[in-house]
Amino acid sequence: MRIFTTSDLHVDYRQNAQWVAELSRADFKDDLLILAGDISDSLERIERTIGSMAERFKQVLYVPGNHDLWVLRSKDVANSFDKFQKVRTVVENSGASLDTFHGRTTTIVPLLGWYDYSFGEPSPELRRRWMDYRACRWPDGTFERDVTEHFTGLNEPISPPSKPVVISFSHFMPRIDLMPSFAPERARFLFPILGTHLLEGQIRRVGSSIHIYGHSHINRRAVRDGVIYINNAYGYPSEDRFTAKKLLCVHEDTG
Ligand SMILES: [Fe+2]
Repeated sequence: MRIFTTSDLHVDYRQNAQWVAELSRADFKDDLLILAGDISDSLERIERTIGSMAERFKQVLYVPGNHDLWVLRSKDVANSFDKFQKVRTVVENSGASLDTFHGRTTTIVPLLGWYDYSFGEPSPELRRRWMDYRACRWPDGTFERDVTEHFTGLNEPISPPSKPVVISFSHFMPRIDLMPSFAPERARFLFPILGTHLLEGQIRRVGSSIHIYGHSHINRRAVRDGVIYINNAYGYPSEDRFTAKKLLCVHEDTG
């Protein structure tokens, strides 16, 4: 079983939805796909995309990204925690899973998360411009740190590795030193909303040898303290410079 990954499909863009629709129906029948969040804020589009991937792959694993939890356009959703439950139900009913997967020699661990300003405090400009502040809704008195603790708390208890290879994945970044030096200076003001150190601690405890993340839309592969970190985001149509726009095979589960 080959293990492929992509993230940040953002199928609200017609070109992105078309890429999903045109993926081979024959090539991935024995393979697994890791979808590391940000499909769409529309439950219908999440359902269609997951369903489409589940028809092509033997197994699909997913964690939600921030866009998936927007409630701005969602009817009958109390807040973004409620949206998470609805997304989970839709994803599981469409043939994918948010749970740990055990292959022959590989364990794959989905890690939920958010951002808690581990990587810096948001500037007034970021507070004005970052869409999550308007598009997500949390219960009164809930701050980003609470949201991050809630979602990373759902990853517990973390089990020690039971297979020779552990691959973990999250939508959010576990460490800011994964941002490449070529990232434009204007991207720096986004650092506070990119992720949380709490994920890095969980990656180490789960014994990952490979960790896949999304959200930054800057494709790269980097080794930090013995772990390989991979971002293979599909990204927005305008981002061809930073995104490969193809599936990436990260490992083969053999044995
Ligand atoms: Fe994101």
